[in-house]
Amino acid sequence: VVAQLMIEKEGSPRVIAHRGANEWYNESTITAYQIAAESGVDSLEIDLRMTRDGELIAMHDETIDRTTNGKGRVSDYTLKEIKTFRTLESNHSKVVTEEIPTLKEIIETFRDSQSYYIETRLVNGELAMEEKLIQLLEKYQLLEKNLVTIQSFSEESLLKIKELAPHTELALLFRKGSFSLEKASKVDFPIIGIESTDVTQKIVNELHKKGKEVHVYFIDRQTQKEEQERVMEYQVDGYFTDYIHFTKEILAI
Ligand code: G3P
Ligand code: CA
Repeated sequence: VVAQLMIEKEGSPRVIAHRGANEWYNESTITAYQIAAESGVDSLEIDLRMTRDGELIAMHDETIDRTTNGKGRVSDYTLKEIKTFRTLESNHSKVVTEEIPTLKEIIETFRDSQSYYIETRLVNGELAMEEKLIQLLEKYQLLEKNLVTIQSFSEESLLKIKELAPHTELALLFRKGSFSLEKASKVDFPIIGIESTDVTQKIVNELHKKGKEVHVYFIDRQTQKEEQERVMEYQVDGYFTDYIHFTKEILAI
């Protein structure tokens, strides 16, 4: 039965460019997303943070310290202030390059030529991003064109998105070491995101039986390639990859 379910799943696994093509260029920049798009990925993965004046920008960390020439929390700056900082060429370099992009600027760069895999989070423990995000996606008609997946570690955030835009594809993420098969099987979201070291064949089979896709993310860059090969054997459905060419190569796509 499991084998049959797998055969019935259409197409190749999704290659999701984690924070853009961050293997070659600093993460979450327009350039990193352009390189990823040119590499032929299925989706651009974008982490959202909110500025003090409520603007959505692409940034993974709570602070701008690691990836820019500035310091401090995103939520302490207005967008105008955020725009005075410059991203670094790479995580190992102090060479400054471009501005921190807003989500709107990323969307205006790619419009409907790309699909987007956007991560929401609570802001100070509260729902804050969802309405603004949906308004933006609707403005560019990305939802009606089925070009967006919204992912979150916050079930509350996903439920809010479902309320605002019921047909949006949603992915519930589980933190490393906190995966619960019972919970993942029960929730009404079509995609479950799991950190690679928590993924087993049994989990993938069980979630496939429930009709869910399993998308795998990777925390440890050192072991990521071997982990990708390991979970590939389990027929997972998506890879949040830091190594785009490698992933496409092992999947032969
Ligand atoms: O969104 C999947 C993966 O990106 C989750 O981990 O910390 O890289 O956002 P993180
Ligand atoms: Ca993310």
